[in-house]
Amino acid sequence: MALKAVCLLLAAGVAAPGWELPRPASAELCGDCHRAIHEGWKRSAHARAMTSRLFQDALKMAESDVGPSVRRICFACHSPMSLKLGDLELRQKVSWEGVSCDYCHSVNAVRKQGANFVAVVNYTDTKSGPSRDAVSTAHRTTYSEVHRNSEICAPCHQYRNKLGLDVLTTYGEWLESSAAKSGRQCQNCHMYQVRGKVVDPRVKRVKATEINLHEMPGAHSLAQLNKAVRAWLDVEREDDQLIVKLRIANRTGAHFVPTGSPLRQLIVELKVNPYEGETRFETIRYRRVVADRQGNEIRREHIVFLRGARVLSDTRLAPSETRTETFRFPIPRNVKVDVEAALWYYYSPLETAEARKVKFHTVSKFIP
Ligand code: HEC
Ligand code: HEC
Ligand code: HEC
Ligand code: HEC
Ligand code: HEC
Repeated sequence: MALKAVCLLLAAGVAAPGWELPRPASAELCGDCHRAIHEGWKRSAHARAMTSRLFQDALKMAESDVGPSVRRICFACHSPMSLKLGDLELRQKVSWEGVSCDYCHSVNAVRKQGANFVAVVNYTDTKSGPSRDAVSTAHRTTYSEVHRNSEICAPCHQYRNKLGLDVLTTYGEWLESSAAKSGRQCQNCHMYQVRGKVVDPRVKRVKATEINLHEMPGAHSLAQLNKAVRAWLDVEREDDQLIVKLRIANRTGAHFVPTGSPLRQLIVELKVNPYEGETRFETIRYRRVVADRQGNEIRREHIVFLRGARVLSDTRLAPSETRTETFRFPIPRNVKVDVEAALWYYYSPLETAEARKVKFHTVSKFIP
């Protein structure tokens, strides 16, 4: 529906007979009026959950491994609307919209089902949201408690597979964290308030000048990574030994770093460069190693969803944890040294060349 038409309807004061938003409706339609929120959402990983190359590649691999039935598993989180519409062939536009407006704003409750969470979703003309006094002529609104807290995120950010492996554990990590105890919800860090208009003022003038950021920045945001992880170098000499201590802290206080996708890694590359002699390197990986039933390590994200059976090791940084790694290098006292630690974040390493990584922080020290 074009904005002009929508405005006419609003000018009339009532929704014209026969005019209603399709159920579920495309984000484009919601964006006609909720412009600023739509802009934010378009930049989110949620909007790309289906169109992302990485996801499409992983989906193809999953299908060739287990057949087309795998779509039901993946789309539950990557395209909840396609399941609702029975559109597993992805013929409709909304099916490509990933985690879209009308999914989240049709959630009325979240229930625990075994170790997993399921959302109660009703696609009606009532949109659920965080305020008690929102009034719209385009659709009814209803206040929803789950939109104000972490529960709304749980159905997709916590997942135990059929083999009993907890593949995604972010919500559970948060539940145990100091952030949860002090009432800090996912929204506080991923949907904080920014300036913006809830609806286009041509549609309705609303007093509030702030909206919740729908971009939901996470590990793809360098700013978030730098908020989350801090590192320090302490270097001493002991006779002809150089002792390098790397302290590294997870400052989110809310979940592990890395969290989310099972194969993400935080990597520190330590470089010790003496002015005489060879440069030395050390690599430290913070990650989970996941295996199938036979104990073989799994290196592809989607296989963890389908065949992951146990965690062989987990060296990730717990919420609020500071860890110290100590290394000794035989370097004579009279030799000057440059020490550098580079922090890298690895996203979804597929076994192949598609592995993606980003260097987000460096600390260095000169030792005279
Ligand atoms: C024709 C314009 C229009 C369209 C289209 C529209 N909305 Fe709204 N919406 C409004 C107005 C006006 C309000 C009331 C805002 C207020 O009073 O704070 C509102 C309120 C809301 C609220 C309540 C916000 C709160 O603070 O609790 C939600 C949620 C919402 N809309 C979601 C959607 C979704 C999802 C879609 C698409 C399926 C959509 N809207 C389509 C105009 C529209
Ligand atoms: C105190 C702030 C804070 C809270 C509360 C918080 N997060 Fe985060 N989260 C961050 C920061 C900072 C990052 C970026 C660093 C990282 O990737 O670990 C992040 C990263 C993420 C990522 C990206 C992981 C990846 O591998 O790409 C996801 C997903 C995520 N958070 C989900 C959640 C969910 C779901 C909740 C609530 C259950 C939550 N977060 C609560 C601060 C927070
Ligand atoms: C992943 C779920 C999710 C998606 C996708 C999503 N929203 Fe929201 N939305 C929320 C939550 C949660 C809040 C409440 C945040 C809070 O109050 O802490 C919210 C708040 C709102 C509000 C109230 C104003 C505000 O900023 O708090 C409106 C209106 C709204 N969303 C519309 C939309 C539209 C339009 C889209 C698509 C362009 C969209 N939402 C996509 C979860 C979502
Ligand atoms: C319907 C399922 C669903 C719901 C509900 C949901 N998410 Fe997500 N979320 C996803 C999927 C799928 C991705 C990964 C998309 C991709 O990268 O392909 C994701 C990615 C993210 C990321 C990673 C962004 C990055 O930079 O890597 C963050 C942060 C996040 N979600 C936060 C939240 C928060 C906070 C909530 C609750 C307000 C929430 N999500 C609700 C499915 C969901
Ligand atoms: C229970 C919900 C859920 C299911 C089921 C699920 N995913 Fe995801 N997926 C997520 C979330 C949440 C993220 C983002 C986590 C993060 O940012 O760390 C994600 C991230 C991904 C990514 C990384 C995307 C990127 O841009 O980094 C790929 C690839 C992926 N999923 C593929 C799949 C495939 C293939 C399936 C089916 C076998 C599947 N997923 C099933 C929730 C789910």
